[in-house]
Amino acid sequence: MDEIRVKVIFDRERIATRIKELAVEIDARYGQEPLLAVCVLKGAVFFFGDLVRILHNKNLELDFVRLTSYGMDDASSGAPILTKDVEADIYGKHILIVEDIVDSGYSMRFLLDCFAARGARSLRLAALVDKHERRQVDVNVDFAGFAVNSGFLVGYGMDWAERWRMLPDICEIVPG
Ligand code: IMP
Ligand code: MG
Repeated sequence: MDEIRVKVIFDRERIATRIKELAVEIDARYGQEPLLAVCVLKGAVFFFGDLVRILHNKNLELDFVRLTSYGMDDASSGAPILTKDVEADIYGKHILIVEDIVDSGYSMRFLLDCFAARGARSLRLAALVDKHERRQVDVNVDFAGFAVNSGFLVGYGMDWAERWRMLPDICEIVPG
């Protein structure tokens, strides 16, 4: 495994700059409206931490879900499982889901439908990376960090078979 190499595609400064821009958009959208921000573990953990700490909304609640669909593979099974649910009640609330990557869209379609069925007042999605061209089901990313069309990304929370999450930059696995 150790021969696998990665190369930086968005470095930590670029990530921080982009997250500040997203925070401005999110603040403009919600102002001081009560908002429940839901982090999708594990991949979004650093994105979520960096984002929510610079929002100006003083009526912000934080919660966490864990979704699994990939296992040790790098292709979506298309059948996500909610292995950890939010503790908060979703009913009647403005919800902002914070995810690392939207790829096929199956995971976020599942979570959006799940929260819609629980009666969320509004539902929006922030994703650090939008692999828009790989979409299999309709999912709109309301606040997208970076658009990427190909390659497998690791670092800044994102993993390949649980490796590389701790890298401070967004990197791509170098094939070969
Ligand atoms: P989707 O259900 O196909 O949209 O898959 C979304 C999930 O797959 C994301 O939450 C990621 O955890 C994972 N994923 C998709 N592409 C990548 C990647 O390039 N690197 C790491 N994880 C990825
Ligand atoms: Mg994920």
